[in-house]
Amino acid sequence: EGNASGNGSASGNESGSGGESKGQILIGSDIPYRPFEYRTNEDELVGFDVDIAEAVFGEQLGYDPEFKQTSFDTIIPSLNNGNFRVIMSAMTINDTRAEKVDFSDPYFTAYQTIVVLQNSEVQSAEDLAGKSVGVQKGTTGQTAAEELKEELDGDLTIKSYDQIPAAFSALMNNQVSAVINDNTVSAEFVNQNEDAVRFVEGDGEAAAEGENAPPYLTLTVEEYGIAFRQDDDELREQVNEALATIRENGTYDEIYSEYFSG
Ligand code: ARG
Repeated sequence: EGNASGNGSASGNESGSGGESKGQILIGSDIPYRPFEYRTNEDELVGFDVDIAEAVFGEQLGYDPEFKQTSFDTIIPSLNNGNFRVIMSAMTINDTRAEKVDFSDPYFTAYQTIVVLQNSEVQSAEDLAGKSVGVQKGTTGQTAAEELKEELDGDLTIKSYDQIPAAFSALMNNQVSAVINDNTVSAEFVNQNEDAVRFVEGDGEAAAEGENAPPYLTLTVEEYGIAFRQDDDELREQVNEALATIRENGTYDEIYSEYFSG
């Protein structure tokens, strides 16, 4: 449940843990990143991560989870500085990050995808040569754009934005030719702006295989994890057990279908 202070406090935390609440646990996250963490028109904090946090930290582990807005670009140093206990922010597990944080087991599969205006001439990643792309700063979308830039011998301009809605606004305003970002988040935007934007489809060859692989061009396959400080092994292990439990008892599937049905 969101509140006016800008934090979302989840409730119902004691049902599965059978004991007293262990108290609040702060979760660093960059909001908005719909459907993972975003606010409704009524200013309620909701999303896949928010519900998984409630199931894992609340129901399973007996904490009172509370989200804290943090810029994605600085979220890892912010965790390590002690501003919150864990990161849940649709964060991709990768080696660079794993030097500074420890990750839970994966809890979601994602793909980097390219969104362009409906009337764009861009039909492939290569067609972006000489053009500009928008990304969120510090994300794997930015890394994917940097890799594409190398493939294009430097012939790509990358514009990074603090939050993903600004990158989409830049696309709508013709300030960039494309946005590179996680597939399900971009899909929300495409679905809400079907007349204006579309995914780059690519050829069948380029499409990913695997869990929920999207039917359009994918630049990477990634897995999201919850991030911990590197001295927080006990909590990380408890979270891994809780993640396994909610996958077994149907809670994960219930939450999944709430945000990703149809
Ligand atoms: N999955 C991407 C990454 O880890 C993007 C995450 C952005 N998350 C957010 N809540 N804004 O880099």
